[in-house]
Amino acid sequence: MNETKLIEKAIEAMHKAYAPYSNFKVGAALLTKSGRIFTGCNVENASFGLSICAERVAIFSAVSAGELQFEKLVVVANTDSPVSPCGACRQVMSEFGDFEVLLVNTRGEVVRTRVSELLPRAFKLKEG
Ligand code: THU
Repeated sequence: MNETKLIEKAIEAMHKAYAPYSNFKVGAALLTKSGRIFTGCNVENASFGLSICAERVAIFSAVSAGELQFEKLVVVANTDSPVSPCGACRQVMSEFGDFEVLLVNTRGEVVRTRVSELLPRAFKLKEG
């Protein structure tokens, strides 16, 4: 799976975002170490606190399919500079190790980072 394809998948997912309240659409595509791709988009709710981010939808979808080892996550939005994941998503990412994260905007700008850089000293209940 090449990176361009993973970015395309994230953009496809972004177009499916349900964001009638913020009008801020986000897409995510997660490549697992086994080579599978799981996508996610943000899904908002009239009770705002129930809304969920694209990154967590993609991660939870992978986990619920039995995948726990991740290679790369692409996050995309139509922003001036590449979108930066929220703190809650960073904590959820850190649960599954230190994988690569690509922050992308629809102009094609890419910021390459990784979980440990996005969330240094992440909370962990157990070492390992
Ligand atoms: N959002 C994401 O999906 N991912 C992020 O990294 C930041 C924020 C969503 C949540 C909400 O639906 C909208 O963007 C505005 O905050």
